[in-house]
Amino acid sequence: MLEKFTKWKANLAATDLSDQAEEGQLPQHVAIIMDGNGRWAKQKGLPRIAGHREGMKTVTSTVRIASNIGIEVLTLYAFSTENWKRPKKEVDYLLRLPERFLNAELPQLIENNVQVRLMGTTEDLPSYTLSAVEKAIEDTKHNTGMILNFALNYGSRFELVEAVKLIGKQVERGELSADMISEQHIHEQLMTSQLKDPDLLIRTSGEIRLSNFMLWQLAYSEFWFTDVLWPDFKEQDFMEAIAVYQKRKRRFGGV
Ligand code: FPP
Repeated sequence: MLEKFTKWKANLAATDLSDQAEEGQLPQHVAIIMDGNGRWAKQKGLPRIAGHREGMKTVTSTVRIASNIGIEVLTLYAFSTENWKRPKKEVDYLLRLPERFLNAELPQLIENNVQVRLMGTTEDLPSYTLSAVEKAIEDTKHNTGMILNFALNYGSRFELVEAVKLIGKQVERGELSADMISEQHIHEQLMTSQLKDPDLLIRTSGEIRLSNFMLWQLAYSEFWFTDVLWPDFKEQDFMEAIAVYQKRKRRFGGV
């Protein structure tokens, strides 16, 4: 997998990254908070939804790059449980994007052996969003390449509350005693129970916060923040994030 990344990077136009050594491993799971669509649009005197439309193009390119270089899991924060607070027109537009993206990209995802997954609460999602994602999940379920995990109507605190409730019920039923509850039990109740925790978190647009995203799962992840707005996030930025990750020494609390 590392060779794929090395080859990819070598093909890039000469940049200030070109002299950086390939030291570390490729992150297996990359999670991205795609931020800055609204500001991108504002800078150009366009409506916010124009920023989201452009952001979708960055989703397309980022997914292709990630799959090409051998990332195993790419989690994209596409719609949070807090995003419902936005004007209805914007919410409607945002929730149309998965359908638009998948209508255009599903054949390519299938060809590239990508497996689509969903992380979030499905109940409140409109049927057009859900059916597009469910179709993609079904059509790609046997694929063995990169997992493309869409966080849609996702909120980490909600996820944790639900996990605690499920564990509480196990205790009520006598299947588990409170003393026996372990990190593994909590992990098993999360929406990411089938996934490894992210190795690298990327957030664009200069905001340095987690915004209720994967609070449990990011406990030992490496963070990389950039001022680049999501619609402007290009291959070069992605490569830089990975190159920085490769130079980090992960100690997981050890020495
Ligand atoms: C945050 O930017 C971004 C979002 C809330 C939505 C992210 C969605 C996309 C990038 C497109 C998703 C595409 C698919 C295929 C699911 P913001 O609007 O908060 O930007 P601002 O902070 O500059 O206002």
